[in-house]
Amino acid sequence: MAEHFSLIGTTREEQYTSLLPQIQVLVGDEKNLIAVLSNTVAALKQQFGFFWVGFYLVEAEHLVLGPFQGTVACMRIAKGKGVCGTAWEKANSQLVPDVDAFPGHIACSNASKSEVVLPILKGKEVVAVLDVDSDKLADFNSTDLLYLEKLCNWLSTYF
Ligand code: SME
Repeated sequence: MAEHFSLIGTTREEQYTSLLPQIQVLVGDEKNLIAVLSNTVAALKQQFGFFWVGFYLVEAEHLVLGPFQGTVACMRIAKGKGVCGTAWEKANSQLVPDVDAFPGHIACSNASKSEVVLPILKGKEVVAVLDVDSDKLADFNSTDLLYLEKLCNWLSTYF
């Protein structure tokens, strides 16, 4: 089992290009969803030092907090609420350069300034979302969306 990965690259693109295959090697043959999601958030946190990285899993009418790295967070989010609930309801990614400008943003921490949330789709159904928060304004762009979407596509096979 690969227990280590190398932190490589200066640009976000280089970092994602290096990290994503390493996560797949790290996961290897593991099929347990919680184990896979847990090491995925740990790897993202280690590589990028994001303020908060985690998954919310769809359970009936709510998103329920799943594996994450960062400060304590709200445990349930209703469909259509906040950035996460919006990504779920619309089944598309939400790139939020300034969380204070997003109507209905749920502030789990005042330190969070910008955020990106991506749905994980099983067919047409959203089964979870990946939420990444930064303590810097406008910290995410189309590069993050591109690579995190690739990551979410791959993760969808574990659901
Ligand atoms: N900000 C999110 C809530 C989750 S926390 O950021 C971890 C939202 O508005 O849905």
